[in-house]
Parts: sequence; C-alpha cells; structure tokens
Amino acid sequence: MNNFTFYAPTYFVFGKDQENETGKYVKRFGGSKVLIHYGGGSVVRSGLLGRIKASLDQEKISYVELGGVKPNPRSGLVYEGIELCRKENVDFVLAVGGGSTIDSAKAIAAGTIYEGDFWDFYSGKPVEKALPIGTVLTIAAAGSEGSPDSVITKEEGMLKRGASGEGLRPAFSILNPALTQTLPPYQTACGITDIMAHLFERYFTTTKEVEVTDRMIEGLLMTMIHEGPRVIADPDNYEARANIMWAGMMAHNNSCGVGRVQDWASHDMEHELSALYDCAHGAGLAVVFPAWMIYNYKRDVMRFAQLAVRVWGCSMDFANPENTALAGIQCLRNYLKSIGMPGNFAELGAKEEDIPQMAHTAAFGNGGSGAIGGFARLTEEDIANIYRLML
Ligand code: NZQ
Ligand code: ZN
Repeated sequence: MNNFTFYAPTYFVFGKDQENETGKYVKRFGGSKVLIHYGGGSVVRSGLLGRIKASLDQEKISYVELGGVKPNPRSGLVYEGIELCRKENVDFVLAVGGGSTIDSAKAIAAGTIYEGDFWDFYSGKPVEKALPIGTVLTIAAAGSEGSPDSVITKEEGMLKRGASGEGLRPAFSILNPALTQTLPPYQTACGITDIMAHLFERYFTTTKEVEVTDRMIEGLLMTMIHEGPRVIADPDNYEARANIMWAGMMAHNNSCGVGRVQDWASHDMEHELSALYDCAHGAGLAVVFPAWMIYNYKRDVMRFAQLAVRVWGCSMDFANPENTALAGIQCLRNYLKSIGMPGNFAELGAKEEDIPQMAHTAAFGNGGSGAIGGFARLTEEDIANIYRLML
C-alpha cells in the first residue's frame, strides 16, 4: 500500500425526512445568507424545494435562489451564480439536486471568493478555499456529495473539465433515499453505472497488496449487482435505494481509493462523449468501460480474473485465466444491458467521424501530457482504438 493522507470531513445525515432539518444544518455550519441552487425543475415538482425553504424559514435564515442547472452543468450559470452571491453577500451555498447541481454549486462557492476567473480551477489550480457547501441529494450517482471534485462544461469549445481540492468537500450532505424514488428508470440506471465505474477506476491498479481496499470495492460492487435489478423492477423499494445511495457515497469519497494507483482514463474518455453529445455521464460510461476492459485486460489478466471470480461469481479457469477475465467482462456487459444501458456508439448517438478529435482532446486537452490512465497509460492512438471498439 502506498502512503496517503485522507481527510473527509463531510457531516452526513442519512434517512427518511431528513431534508426537513436542512435549516438546522445550515445554521450549524455557519450559514446566515444562503444561495439555494437547483436543476431543471424536478425538485420544484416533487415539493422538495418548498420543504427546504420552509426549513430555512424556521431557522430564520434568508436565501436567494438560482435554478436551471443542466445535466453536464455549464459555466454560464456558474458566472451568474458567482455574481448573485457577491451582490447578495451570500455566505453558504446549498445544492438541492444531483451531481450536476452539486458540481455547479461547488464552482460557485469557489468562484465567489476568488479574485480571478473560476475556470482557473478547471484548468489545474487546486481549490483550497470556497464558501461552505451543503447538499440535499436527489440521485445516487456522481458521489459529489462526499467528493472534493466538481465537473463543469465550458460552452466555448464545449470543454468538460474537472476541478479538485479540499475546499470542495461539502460541509454537510443530506441523503434521503426516498427522494430518489421519483427518478425515471433510465436515470436510476445511469447512476448505478456511474457508481460501479467509480469502483472500477480504483480497482484497476498497479499497486500490490491492497487487500483492504480491494475487498471494500468488491463488496460495494456486489451490492450494486444485487440492488440494481431490484430497484429497476421496483422503483419504490426504499431499502434497495438506501443501499445504493450509501454505496454511491462510499464509491467516490475515496475511502476505497487511498494508498493505491487509480486509473480514470475511462472517465476522461466519457467526458469527451458527454461534452460532445450531451449524453448522461452514466450512459457514456456504460459504453466506454467494457471497451476499455477488453483493450487492457492483458496488462494484468489475474486482476481481471480476480474480479470475475470474486464479484461476478465466475469459475476460475486455471489453465487459461484469460477465459475467466473475459467471462467477467461479458457479465458486466450483460448486467448493463439488463438495466437498460446503451452498449455502443449508435445507441449513445455518438459518431465515428468524431473519434480522432475526441481521442486528441482526451489525451492532450486537460493540460494532459498526451497520455492518460494510471493502470494503463493510454496514448492518443490507444484512446482512438478503444473508441473504435465501441462502434
Ligand atoms: O435537473 P432536474 O430537473 O433536477 O433533473 C435531473 C436531471 O435531469 C434528474 N433528477 C435528479 N434527481 C431526480 C431527478 N429527476 C426526478 N427525480 C429525482 N429525484 O436527473 C437528471 C440527471 O441529474 P444529474 O445531476 O445530471 O445527475 P448525476 O448525479 O449523474 O450528475 C452527473 C454529473 O456529475 C458529473 C458528471 O460528469 C455529470 O456532469 N460527475 C461528478 C463527479 C464529482 N463531482 O465527483 C464525479 C463523477 O464521475 C461525474 O463525472
Ligand atoms: Zn463518474
């Protein structure tokens, strides 16, 4: 295991009706003037926004609102939010929604107290300070409720880029699984896929002897494999939703990723797809990950075979472990199909002719050196080859 530091100070509040306590937590973490940030309207329709406001009113906390965050959130609304926070002397940013809303809120929280352009943080500058952030999560997926990350798309050039830094970890996050019951099945499945992808990105490592985090990841993956179909068949299954919601947080607050090299090339490749075609992040990952696995399993056949045996229950072919590794990848494909995820470029609306551009941007665009991935170092040519496996 490699050396590491780990500091994840988010205060989690989990369970039924807990969103009604939002005002109490805003107060506890120092908020007196709040920006309530939300998406395209699901929280208005469900009545959640009204309950949040009532809970702030109860604590006599004043607020301003900014809705309209789109999936794959855009920089334009972030600039608007920063201006609003400065004008209104906002001292706390409250995100009510999914990963896109939380990421947009994080960008506003960092940008409001920064003199330069907030996009500097999405071009490599770490975020050390931001206004305190609270979240009320409505979809189990991105893990932004416990992560120090935010992903924003700049309209100019449709660049989808990430920022990171301890300043971006939420002060508190409220997770009520019942709030996810209104999700359309497709969004639920996208979330499941993203959660599993966060686990795979960490599982595929070059670091030896990382049994504790291997086993944590395997346990979370097995939970997702068990609960995913249950929740697709029965969207009101609170217990299945609860397990998925907490797995989503655990998958990405990095408790499973410490002390080991991680990969993340699949996320970089997916971000090119969602930037160009505006597809859901999880749907893009469903197409990218099996292709990435097929291209790279020979780099460490035994790690892929271990995943196949321990997580998918495949039997070990000792004479030819490659067969086991491949069987595991096929199990993943079958699983993703069974929950309604796309399996190729056409189902995603992606186009072959864009492959050279996407491969170039994935390799060089993010201030990159021309190669991405911690487990498998991929050049522009490798990336293009992997995209072609998705046709
Ligand atoms: O906008 P509204 O109307 O709220 O509708 C949303 C949106 O259309 C809807 N939705 C959310 N909760 C709902 C609901 N509809 C009905 N009932 C509910 N309870 O679902 C749609 C998707 O929402 P979004 O916030 O985009 O989903 P998700 O949480 O998957 O976030 C995706 C974004 O997170 C980024 C992705 O790249 C993408 O931009 N990521 C962020 C990460 C991070 N900050 O750590 C890591 C991830 O790897 C990921 O890259
Ligand atoms: Zn993701």
